[in-house]
Amino acid sequence: MKKKIGVKISGTGSYFPKKVLTNVDLEKMVDTSDEWISARTGIKERRMSEKNEPTSELAFRASVEALKFANILPEQIDMILVATVTPDMLFPSTACFLQAKLNIPSVPAFDLLASCSGFIYGISIARAFIESGLYKRILLVGADELTKITDWTDRNTCVLFGDGAGAMILSASYETDNILSVFLGADGSYSNSLFLPAGGTSNPATIDTVNKKLHTIKMHGKEVFRVAVPKMVLAAKKALEFSEKTLENIKLFIPHQANMRIIEAVARKMGISMDKVFVNIHKTGNVSSATTITALDEAIKIGRLQNGDIVELVAFGGGFTWGAAVIRI
Ligand code: ACO
Repeated sequence: MKKKIGVKISGTGSYFPKKVLTNVDLEKMVDTSDEWISARTGIKERRMSEKNEPTSELAFRASVEALKFANILPEQIDMILVATVTPDMLFPSTACFLQAKLNIPSVPAFDLLASCSGFIYGISIARAFIESGLYKRILLVGADELTKITDWTDRNTCVLFGDGAGAMILSASYETDNILSVFLGADGSYSNSLFLPAGGTSNPATIDTVNKKLHTIKMHGKEVFRVAVPKMVLAAKKALEFSEKTLENIKLFIPHQANMRIIEAVARKMGISMDKVFVNIHKTGNVSSATTITALDEAIKIGRLQNGDIVELVAFGGGFTWGAAVIRI
């Protein structure tokens, strides 16, 4: 009988731009306060990319780190997948720009868009490609530059977001299987709750759309909060059930870093104590597709995770989309 192909997580990496924007800096830009932002979101500062530093540049730097970690050469990668809502351009894909930077022509490269759940969707896609036997080493990246689609006069949104990128290398293996389960979901009836109104085919760019700031994030914050918590709990419970593990088996719970109050509400409803929950939102803000992978990478780097530990990632984002994955490091 043919042996089943498993997925090994060979390495992770991350990159945040150098420039820091603190809540105190924001106090000078809009009518807000460090106190309000900290209490409502848990965010103290976020990183901002430079004008000449597109999403693919952050993706490249995170990928180089993941390749080094995995001790793999770029030419050993046979597929590139980038989860992002802030591509360098509408087309070609950011994955293609990344491929050129890595100098590995010919390998397939494409983007996927599932907002803040993008990286979890990516794990599921990469796993399916590897298990099918079609590809052996996939570079999966979650990268976003939300500060470039932010309305800096809107205090409701501009305090929430940041820029960053994380990368993971997933390899075919007959010895191990690090992806224990993935659960995904979406509900497109909420597409007007968190969105970028213009620039696509339903509202192409015009002087009017620019003047009305329709190329920046619009969000119904309360609705996001109301739906995010139960959907993240649902996804986390389903992925756990499919993995045939229990909460006791989970070393660390890594939720999407959107908002400290959402994270705490999910942990409470799951019955997980906060010392088992990884949080880095205070220094990153919400980096959308990059949150779970950059948090995972940090947890590995600072020694909160060791080889063999089981981790649950859970995310929620525009669409709405949601997803969770139980993985072994
Ligand atoms: N500084 C000071 N005051 C502010 C700010 C700010 N940055 N932003 C809003 N306010 C004001 C509002 O104008 C309002 O004033 P008003 O009462 O005079 O009208 C007051 O604060 C309360 O506003 P609410 O919207 O009721 O505040 P709420 O407690 O709901 O908090 C927040 C807002 C933080 C956005 C919350 O709804 C939330 O966390 N939602 C989830 C949003 C989120 O995480 N989005 C990320 C993208 S989606 C994702 O990644 C899952």
